[in-house]
Amino acid sequence: MTNPINYRYLNLPAEFINQKEITEKYSNTEGFDPTKNKQWRIDGGNPDIFNANAYDWLKQFNCEIGVCEIFYTAPKSGIRWHIDMSGFTPITDYVKINFVWGPESDHYMQWGESIIPIEEHEVGYNMVGSPHMIFKNEEVNITESLIIDKPTLLRVGIPHKVINDSDKGRWCLCLIPKSIGGGRLLWPKSIDLFKDYVL
Ligand SMILES: [Fe+2]
Repeated sequence: MTNPINYRYLNLPAEFINQKEITEKYSNTEGFDPTKNKQWRIDGGNPDIFNANAYDWLKQFNCEIGVCEIFYTAPKSGIRWHIDMSGFTPITDYVKINFVWGPESDHYMQWGESIIPIEEHEVGYNMVGSPHMIFKNEEVNITESLIIDKPTLLRVGIPHKVINDSDKGRWCLCLIPKSIGGGRLLWPKSIDLFKDYVL
């Protein structure tokens, strides 16, 4: 079997998050409506939404956690095709480690190839102010589709989307690893760096 192009499951040595606590905390924030999508952005290094296992694990690679994000995708909803941009540089092929929970099935992350030149796409901002490049459905050919049911290292620098066809809200916490004193990790480098934990 050939390796996937855009993601790798990770075999992490310990629990990095407490899904129940996060769900309870953020579903009780002001303005949360379970029928509507919502995002949160947590600035600052090493936020305590992750437990110490996460920081210990990353330290061996001389890495830490930068900004992190939470995406709540409502039942029968989704996140449109986009490319994440770092806000500091033009498009880069950087990675996130995503933790997803909520529905057991009928939810997907998909990746695809843009059928028109990337430079021609519009840059927008999501509801927490992170820049991204957006695509219409007809501008992307789907290449991969995945149910994220374990921690997953994945690319956000090429077009991707989320579909939640289930009747439960889908929670996704994004850990954005970065080098200590440096920047975000690029896809090829991160595969090599985390190779002992890649499934
Ligand atoms: Fe994204």
